[in-house]
Amino acid sequence: MAHTGLFISFEGIDGAGKSTHIDGLAAAFKAQGRTVTLTREPGGTPLAEKLRDMVLHDAMDALTEALLIFAARRDHLQQVIEPALARGEVVLCDRFTDATFAYQGSGRGFDLAVLKQLEAWVQTLPAGVSAPNGLRQPDVTVWFELDPQIAAVRLAGARVPDRFESQPVDFFQKVSDGYAQRAQADVQRFVRLDAAQTREVVWQQLHHHFVQRGWLKASSHGNA
Ligand code: TYD
Repeated sequence: MAHTGLFISFEGIDGAGKSTHIDGLAAAFKAQGRTVTLTREPGGTPLAEKLRDMVLHDAMDALTEALLIFAARRDHLQQVIEPALARGEVVLCDRFTDATFAYQGSGRGFDLAVLKQLEAWVQTLPAGVSAPNGLRQPDVTVWFELDPQIAAVRLAGARVPDRFESQPVDFFQKVSDGYAQRAQADVQRFVRLDAAQTREVVWQQLHHHFVQRGWLKASSHGNA
């Protein structure tokens, strides 16, 4: 039977611990025969990965940053995400547009109206595809919510920080508030997980949610 494509994004401040759960979910979907495209933003295509490198390491003003991130997103959507969804695959994307509203909008204080305009230009739907607000958005966004103080402790000494990881705790408080606003504006799409819990408990809650929605079978537990 042909599957309908499923687009899932993962969000949270740096240090919230989303990576292992993305891998766990990929394994759970594969275990029940689904084809999974595992990808990330900024990035996911050769061009978008070059833009990612610039965004994470080169100094630039806020508009330049927003334009590069949305340029990367456009290429990623056209080259990877839309084709995979059209083939009926499960697309697991480490961050998507909510990160731009949280980091560039709320964190950096960049104009939300400009971000909304860029979102409307970039996330257009392919011909014949419809969605509630006329834009490509994830079907589900898993938000790992974590107190920025705890995230800072988890990140400390982990590796050389990039332009975002090196920001102070109050920047991440603003980013977190940005995610909360996006979640409030789209409660159907967001699944909030308390990322201060143990990895096992977070995984159980995440898995349970997907079982409840009918997207995973109860037996496809996998591990995290
Ligand atoms: P992250 O997803 O945390 O990857 P890694 O696990 O390799 O650190 O890093 C991406 C960084 O890019 C993160 O700090 C958030 C930032 N970012 C934005 O500022 N805006 C965006 O739109 C996206 C997608 C990411």
